Amino acid sequence: MLLPTRDTTLTMMTASLTVLGIESSCDETAVAVVRRDAAGTQVLSSVIHSQVMQHAVYGGVVPEIAARSHVETIDDLAARALAEAGDVTIDAVAATAGPGLIGGVMVGLSFAKGFALARDLPLIAVNHLEGHALSARLTEDVAFPFLLLLVSGGHCQLLSVKGVGDYERLGTTIDDAAGEAFDKIAKVLGLGYPGGPALEACAKSGDASRFTLPRALLGRKDCDFSFSGLKTAAAKIAHEEVRTEQDRADLCAAVQNAIARQLVERSERAMASFRQQNAVTSPAFVVAGGVAANATVRTVLQAAAGRKGFVFVAPPLKYCTDNAAMIALAGLEHFDQSGKGDGLDVQARPRWPLDEIRAAEAPVHKKAGRKGAKA
Ligand code: KG4
Ligand code: ZN
Repeated sequence: MLLPTRDTTLTMMTASLTVLGIESSCDETAVAVVRRDAAGTQVLSSVIHSQVMQHAVYGGVVPEIAARSHVETIDDLAARALAEAGDVTIDAVAATAGPGLIGGVMVGLSFAKGFALARDLPLIAVNHLEGHALSARLTEDVAFPFLLLLVSGGHCQLLSVKGVGDYERLGTTIDDAAGEAFDKIAKVLGLGYPGGPALEACAKSGDASRFTLPRALLGRKDCDFSFSGLKTAAAKIAHEEVRTEQDRADLCAAVQNAIARQLVERSERAMASFRQQNAVTSPAFVVAGGVAANATVRTVLQAAAGRKGFVFVAPPLKYCTDNAAMIALAGLEHFDQSGKGDGLDVQARPRWPLDEIRAAEAPVHKKAGRKGAKA
């Protein structure tokens, strides 16, 4: 069906912008209202419904269950977010349009289209990764350009964030994301889902030096990541050598250290190339995504930033993991910059690289498939 493309250009930019944000790309349904005015950026409301219990029994996210759950909860969440925001006028609606599980993305984007149409508001289709990329600006005045490490269950990338809509990929994973590695190894160890927090808790009483795990891509000097070798080695040790609670804790500690070490090594390389490209005195090194919740990962990355003269910034945990405030902010920043929204015929995209140029020139997965480049 061809929907009308409306002229959503604001004739005069207002001093204040209030945006409703919608997120539904994975297993969290989230709605938020964010305002920016002379006083700065404020999150007026941010409500999240986590589906984690619905997926836990399957040991991972089941796309069909996720999409149905988004449909069932999005109305109530939107009503709650609007009520909590108080008596505000919404200027625009922003929704994640990809990348992500397509059924879920379509639910949130369709809801946003309906809302925009009913209230005659501009619609902004947001890249979920851009939400993470800009999330630090919800609470801190992080200036462009900055270096971003995005580490979540679906993504592991180093990006130079030069401005709104202007991203250069410095490194990405060639197989699993870091959070995915945490989740898969935790599953093998019988720690349940989501695995990251469970593995971190188990690692607390472990001796990280007991098991030796492989280091990935040793011959390469770029900023790419790889976690599949680590996953295979950990699974082998789990099957052959883990018998007691102490064995399990020792392996968890070794895995956590190995992941943290790889994140640090690649981040340090990215810091060096960021410095070559940008003459900025104390640039920010922002760490976003669910894995940033891991205390070991945070500590070693913070130390690396200090060594290299970067200011370490990690958004509060509630904005590190999936949320709609970051989507509202990304929409707001785009709208503030261009004064324009997207047409109501904008499509949901399962794949949507932030740095489309680099993704096309140097695809990580040689066969991009008909859906386009993966990372
Ligand atoms: O950003 P996020 O909420 O969702 C996306 O993947 O977009 O990240 C979720 C990921 C999961 O893989 C989860 O296991 C991981 O973040 N995670 C952690 C911790 N908390 C969440 N990984 C390691 N340690 C944690 N404490
Ligand atoms: Zn995410």
